[in-house]
Order: sequence, then structure tokens, then C-alpha cells
Amino acid sequence: MIEFRGTAKAWSDGTVALEPLDLTVPAGSTTVLVGSSGSGKTTLLRTVNRMVDPTAGTVLVDGRDVATVDPVALRRSIGYVLQSGGLLPHRSVLDNVARVPALRGRSRNEARERARDTLDLVGLDGTLVDRYPDGLSGGQQQRVGVARALVGTPRVLLMDEPFGAVDPVVRSELQDELRRIRAELGTTILFVTHDMDEALLLGDEIVVMRPGGVVAQRGTPEALLSAPADEFVARFIGSGNAGRALALRERDGVEYVEDEGGRIVGRLTA
Ligand SMILES: Nc1ncnc2c1ncn2[C@@H]1O[C@H](COP(=O)(O)OP(=O)(O)OP(=O)(O)O)[C@@H](O)[C@H]1O
Ligand SMILES: [Mg+2]
Repeated sequence: MIEFRGTAKAWSDGTVALEPLDLTVPAGSTTVLVGSSGSGKTTLLRTVNRMVDPTAGTVLVDGRDVATVDPVALRRSIGYVLQSGGLLPHRSVLDNVARVPALRGRSRNEARERARDTLDLVGLDGTLVDRYPDGLSGGQQQRVGVARALVGTPRVLLMDEPFGAVDPVVRSELQDELRRIRAELGTTILFVTHDMDEALLLGDEIVVMRPGGVVAQRGTPEALLSAPADEFVARFIGSGNAGRALALRERDGVEYVEDEGGRIVGRLTA
């Protein structure tokens, strides 16, 4: 479980990244943060593993105030997928992932075995594991980042736009994989995305942030879709390729689904 209690952040230059926020991510559930660029999503995520110290309020992980936990130990216990790769450039892909179990005291062989299994789990081709990160595509690097976050089977997982650079097919595979892992291990996940479809798919709760670190609306996907609080939220939900006010049409005997702008978004399969 992750609890934010009046968590706020202002940078030393006076920029307010986060207005005081109260938010609970219950154990085993996923909360998705969406919102404008610069609305404080990454900042909020990083208060959980103490990469950012809040200026006010507290953050608790499984009931413990993170300010009282050694930052290094804390970061080892929480999986974190960075917005941009974050892999060590001078270590092979396998070593990047194996480092995590090795630091936690597994033998070198055990650590490498776990790393191989986890890289396989996220669908990285086994022939790539001895390369250095810059020999991989952006999407492949992101999968390594996800593997590195998962390899220690953390109870809490922070994911900052983890699938941004992968193609739609792989993205959908990774989303399914994440849902499977969550169901199997009961992982608590705080997830940032710009993709509303992804938010609706993965979020038990969605928090829409506006500039200045203010929560515009929070709720279940159903609540947000059925009753957006204002124009800002409505535009957010309606953005992307799937308009939300859908209609069933028929043309030449084929039934298909159209959005409010008249674009075809899919066909009914059931
Ligand atoms: N180290 C820093 N020092 C000063 N200001 C910062 C720092 N890091 C972030 N900010 C500012 O804090 C605000 C929130 O940034 P943050 O990275 O949390 O936004 P975000 O919602 O993750 O945006 P994006 O969607 O673009 O990733 C922005 O105004 C940003 O410029
Ligand atoms: Mg960010």
C-alpha cells in the first residue's frame, strides 16, 4: 500500500510541482496518473522512493513513513521504471538486470538466471542480453527497464511511462503481462502514462493532474468516463484515437463502431 498524506513539493526556485495531495493506493491495486506535461506526475512518483523529498506531508509504504527508511534500502525494495531507460551504459543488458538480485545477496549465477527468466518474461529476445543498452532499440531498452524493476518481485512498483517507446503490439503484450503479474503477486502499482486507453485498461483508480500539481479529478475508469468533472478532464479522456462517445453503425451489412467525430474506431466482435 502507498499512502500520500498532504504530500507537497515546491522546488527551490519557487515552482510548485505538487499541491498537497492525499491519496491511497491500496495493496494489490493500480493507480494511474495522467495529466499535462509538467503537472507533477514524475515528482509524485519519486517521493515514494525518496528520489524527491516532499516539502510538506508524508509518504507511507506498507504503513512505514519513507522518511524514516534508509534511501538505498528503500530503492532496493521498490521497483522503479524510469520515463527514459535509466540503464547503466557500461553494463550488458543481462548485468543491468542481474545487478538487482546480486545486490540483494544472490550468487552471481542465481542472479543471472533470475535476470534471464525476467527478460524472457518481458519478451526480450534472448540473443540480445549480452549487448550494451545503446545497442538496443528504444522499445527493447524499455523492456529491459521493466525487467529490472520486476526482477526483485517488489511489493510496490513505480512505473513512469514504461511503455512509451514500444510499438502497439508489444505494448499490448506488456500490458497483459503486467496485469498477469499483478494478479499473481498482488503488486501495488503507481503508473504514469499519457495514453488514456492504457490508463483505462490498467487503472483501478485514475488521477487526472493539471498544471501546478493539482488533482483535476480522480475516480474509477467508469466514473471518469461517465462524469468528467470539467472540460479539462473531458478533453483528456477524449484525447487519443478513441473518442468516448461511441455509436454503432452499419454499412454494407457490416456493423462497426464510430466515435463522435465520425471516425471508425472498431467493429463489434460480440
Ligand atoms: N529538479 C527540478 N528542479 C526544479 N524544477 C523541477 C525539477 N524537476 C521537475 N521540476 C519542475 O516540476 C514540475 C513538475 O515536473 P514533473 O517532471 O513532475 O512533471 P510530469 O507531470 O512528470 O511531466 P511529463 O508528463 O512531461 O513527464 C515542472 O514544472 C518541472 O519543470
Ligand atoms: Mg514525467
